[in-house]
Amino acid sequence: MAIMEIANTNVLIVGGGSGMGQALAKRCLDAGAKVIIAGRNEDKLKRACEELQTPAALDSITVDISQENQVANLFERIGRLDHVVSTAADIDGAYELLPALNLKAAQRVVESKFYGPLLLAKYATPMLSAGGSIAFTSGIAAYRPAARGSVVAAVNAALEGLVRALAIELAPIRVNAVPPGWVDTPIWSFVAGDKKNDTLRAMAERLPVGRVGRPDDIADAIGFLMGNTFTTGTILHVEGGHRLI
Ligand SMILES: NC(=O)c1ccc[n+]([C@@H]2O[C@H](COP(=O)([O-])OP(=O)(O)OC[C@H]3O[C@@H](n4cnc5c(N)ncnc54)[C@H](OP(=O)(O)O)[C@@H]3O)[C@@H](O)[C@H]2O)c1
Repeated sequence: MAIMEIANTNVLIVGGGSGMGQALAKRCLDAGAKVIIAGRNEDKLKRACEELQTPAALDSITVDISQENQVANLFERIGRLDHVVSTAADIDGAYELLPALNLKAAQRVVESKFYGPLLLAKYATPMLSAGGSIAFTSGIAAYRPAARGSVVAAVNAALEGLVRALAIELAPIRVNAVPPGWVDTPIWSFVAGDKKNDTLRAMAERLPVGRVGRPDDIADAIGFLMGNTFTTGTILHVEGGHRLI
């Protein structure tokens, strides 16, 4: 089986209440999958379900992936799955120069983008079908770090190291990552505040593709990683040429 059809598979998307995760949920639903979106904020999940028009194949569940007991409970409640994806990231307060470093905020980045994925892999593995997959989002900051972004850059790089190691340890389950370039999503309010639009516009002018990313660009790449059964330990760059500039 070269390509695993998404139709009729069961997909868990942590981070599915917004941004890239929500775009992936739409894509999977359109392809005929059963989708569960998860995150910490029930209202956000409810809004996303409404925007996705709450089809019968969609469910939502609250979880904080930094909490091991919550991750364990999540998989007990859900049961068998074909694909687990996490686009979760808590970067609130983490974009600071070192003199203003807030250690708690830095720890939340590590918890949401490193320990969280590690816990998801731990508890998802027994629940995943043969040919199943796990995918995470790292980020361009691992390759093009910027001042204020040291913690995020380091955690993205660590997550990619974890992906390669898990691809070996959990085989034949496939484990992959997409490091997104700059994509217009709600996360930018934490990175640039009210300078969001100007910052994204300036980057669009610099990128070879002439625009910043859309959540769909990343959903497309994750969809490929889920379906292509010859792909594991792969870091699939989708960043509009950002690494070239
Ligand atoms: N947008 C960009 O330009 C960009 C660039 C590079 C990398 N990335 C990466 O791409 C991924 C997706 O980001 P996005 O832009 O789609 O951002 P987003 O819309 O803010 O999505 C992140 C999601 O993570 C969830 N989340 C955060 N902490 C969590 C936790 N502890 N447990 C469970 N869920 C948690 C949030 O929901 P709750 O608040 O409900 O928990 C939120 O829905 C992230 O890994 C981000 O670091 C984004």
